[in-house]
Amino acid sequence: MSKYTLEVFEDAKALAREAAGRWLAAIEKHDGSRPFTIALSGGRIPKVLYDEFVSLRPQSVGNVHFFWGDERCVPPDDEESNFKLAADNLFSPLSLPEMQIHRILGERDDAFAVAQAEAEICRVAELSPDGQPVLDLIFLGMGEDGHVASLFPEDEEAVASTAVYRAVIGPKPPPRRVTLGYPALALAREVWVLAAGAGKQEALRVSLSGEESTPLARVLQLRTHTRIFTDFDLP
Ligand code: 6PG
Repeated sequence: MSKYTLEVFEDAKALAREAAGRWLAAIEKHDGSRPFTIALSGGRIPKVLYDEFVSLRPQSVGNVHFFWGDERCVPPDDEESNFKLAADNLFSPLSLPEMQIHRILGERDDAFAVAQAEAEICRVAELSPDGQPVLDLIFLGMGEDGHVASLFPEDEEAVASTAVYRAVIGPKPPPRRVTLGYPALALAREVWVLAAGAGKQEALRVSLSGEESTPLARVLQLRTHTRIFTDFDLP
């Protein structure tokens, strides 16, 4: 069985519409005895995804708990905040209660933000035998260098780390970030990579071919199966 499913859509809106519909379907068929735990990402595709999800007028999000795959170390009202992106375009339109939102405290010092984010996700999510959160769904974007979340190429510490969350200084501005580590990405029940936008073909191609150990390639290797949605054809 292939390690991934790759689906190509005509544009970002079509990609987001399909991902939003499957997201809602996953929530609706979820066993309501425990929260549906999801980690959001940053970048340009999440707003398109949120708009499509809100347009479905979901009625069954009462048991969904939101976390982040990564967050920039900025205040929650900063335009660069991944939390603000979701608050403005997803939580507010859905009138989502605060108790279902577990933001990373980007305005605090790294050590505090990492410790608090780990405590919160481990309080709510199911845990693996070695204490890693097992999320139901993680949305990832992919950068032009094959990064996912804030796991960047050449970050050998990230590869070796078993931390749930880590503070990093990355090449993508703003540089200071908090990111889920590879273990949580490996263990999630579902990881959907929304690799949308120009200039990413080569990063995706080398990630899928295994020619380069990009962060995305590493996630694919660590997992049994990953869904990839793109709005471009591979070369
Ligand atoms: C972030 C991210 C990052 C992003 C990719 C894709 O907070 O910056 O989570 O991993 O998803 O860089 O971003 P674009 O979709 O804007 O290219």
